[in-house]
Amino acid sequence: MRRPIIVGNWKMQKTVPEAVALVEALNAVLTDVHEVDIGVAPPFTALAAVAEALRFSEIVLVAQNMHWEPRGAFTGEISAPMLTDVGCRRVIIGHSERRQLLGETDETVNKKLHAALGSTLDPILCIGETLEQREGNATFRVLEQQVRGGLAGVAGEAMRRVVIAYEPVWAIGTGKTATPEQAQEVHAFLRNLVTTLYGKTLAEDLRIQYGGSVNAGNIQTLMAQPDVDGALVGGASLEAASFARIVSFQS
Ligand code: 13P
Repeated sequence: MRRPIIVGNWKMQKTVPEAVALVEALNAVLTDVHEVDIGVAPPFTALAAVAEALRFSEIVLVAQNMHWEPRGAFTGEISAPMLTDVGCRRVIIGHSERRQLLGETDETVNKKLHAALGSTLDPILCIGETLEQREGNATFRVLEQQVRGGLAGVAGEAMRRVVIAYEPVWAIGTGKTATPEQAQEVHAFLRNLVTTLYGKTLAEDLRIQYGGSVNAGNIQTLMAQPDVDGALVGGASLEAASFARIVSFQS
């Protein structure tokens, strides 16, 4: 049995007081949820304050991005040692917004993945096709390229620490969720691909999140799919009540 993992990606949202208020509200309402790995990914500026607010919480602190070098002349960047120092346990790598708007490539994604695995940060590798690619029947080719490129050189042992997030670009922030069948089809494809690359045991243990317009109304049917093991939630993670309903999908 794979333990569900649900992470809220706040993107470029929340000042420090807003971020602290949100996690304090989550701490208060989520005391009874123990069967799901829960994470929040605030902006860098709020990580320290949120870490403090999560000291006695089961909610894990997640970073939204990182650089692959540990230190150096990289103005504006943040490294793995800085993120672990502030209390992060996971890091999101290769989000489609970074690929599309900020020049991220499979090569930089791969470097970051190796750097995370060289630290104590467990990576969430994001992949996903655009609408144009889906309509051009390129979905599986694109996803395979992103998986192979992102995971190049990652050995089986390290792979055990990786979570894959399938986020179709056309479903992000659009209110247009993939149907449970569309999500399942891709997740099964990804698990097969990982079976080819790493063998059946590892692929069976791999957790694959779905992301893209997840909300309290669609989480149950998505999670009911055999290969959907969690969610990466944007908009609906910005309010305690809606994120709490999502992570409590089993109750
Ligand atoms: P939305 O849930 O707002 O569509 O965002 C999904 C996402 O990009 C999470 O990383």
